[in-house]
Amino acid sequence: MAWSTTDIPCQRGRVALVTGGSAGIGLATARALAARGARTVLACRDVDRGRAAAAGLAGPADVVRLDLGSLESVRRAAAEVRDRYGRLDVLVNNAGVMFPPRPYTEDGFETHFGVNHLGHFALTVLLLDAMRQVPGSRIVTVTSLAHRIAPGGFDAAGARSGDGRRSVAAYGRSKLANLMFSRELQRRLADEGAETVSLAAHPGLSATALWHGDAPAPLRPVGRAALRFLARPPGRAAEPVLRAATDHRVPGGAHLAPGRLVETRGAPAPARSSRVSRDARAQLDLWELSEELTGVRYGQRTTSPRAARRHG
Ligand SMILES: NC(=O)c1ccc[n+]([C@@H]2O[C@H](COP(=O)([O-])OP(=O)(O)OC[C@H]3O[C@@H](n4cnc5c(N)ncnc54)[C@H](OP(=O)(O)O)[C@@H]3O)[C@@H](O)[C@H]2O)c1
Repeated sequence: MAWSTTDIPCQRGRVALVTGGSAGIGLATARALAARGARTVLACRDVDRGRAAAAGLAGPADVVRLDLGSLESVRRAAAEVRDRYGRLDVLVNNAGVMFPPRPYTEDGFETHFGVNHLGHFALTVLLLDAMRQVPGSRIVTVTSLAHRIAPGGFDAAGARSGDGRRSVAAYGRSKLANLMFSRELQRRLADEGAETVSLAAHPGLSATALWHGDAPAPLRPVGRAALRFLARPPGRAAEPVLRAATDHRVPGGAHLAPGRLVETRGAPAPARSSRVSRDARAQLDLWELSEELTGVRYGQRTTSPRAARRHG
């Protein structure tokens, strides 16, 4: 079914948080949500950059400091959001790195896996108390076509070892983890009868700062050619993410992407997911590993009953 950002329903009264909302596809997502009236929270590493971005949005917008490469920062950001807003209608797990400058996060995880997956895993679980009772609440995790190159097989040693700074495989693994996480989360939310649904979306290709990382030399011409012919501006690339976040006809567990030309063009439509990304046992294993590595567990209470009543 055709869909464009003009189909986004009114978001007034809703609170939407976008990680990495100060640039690229995250900024385009935040811009569209704010324009439809959502109170939009930009969760960013660089707060000044976040404020500058927030000032340019057409609707109400705030900034929360978040470094997904630091579990301490993730805990602080989640607590701030719970205290400030009490509820969250939309969570967009968008921030990401590819070929980052540092091999490991503050907590010693390979940077792609630590930032793109573990940081979002912890943030999401810590925010669930602010979402699971909110009718129509939606969690969208941004993945990539690159998930298809990753074979899976996550373990604790791999999460902490290997210099993935210039590794396409490390990026692909982290985006596979994003997709598997969104599916396992959906299963858990459905099992507990929560109001929240979890979905995944990928943008196709867009010539954002993501591509400014230190790519391996043989890949650079391939990347340049792919971007030249297939990239779309961030505003278009954000469409699958925006549809997943706002179109209530799209059910939990869905994975959206541009519908045409190997998922790089066209209106948002169901995407192809690799076989391993659909493996329920592998999804559960990744979930349990992520709990062990982050110390953040599903079902753990994060809001005191009194605070929940206050915001109720
Ligand atoms: N562009 C593409 O072709 C493409 C294709 C497939 C999937 N994606 C996915 O789309 C998402 C958005 O990427 P983009 O293309 O918009 O890239 P981008 O322009 O580089 O934006 C990435 C955002 O993530 C933030 N970020 C990076 N590390 C962070 C950290 N440790 N903590 C908090 N925020 C952090 C960045 O903040 P700073 O400004 O502080 O660095 C920036 O706001 C990513 O998940 C990416 O994997 C993109």
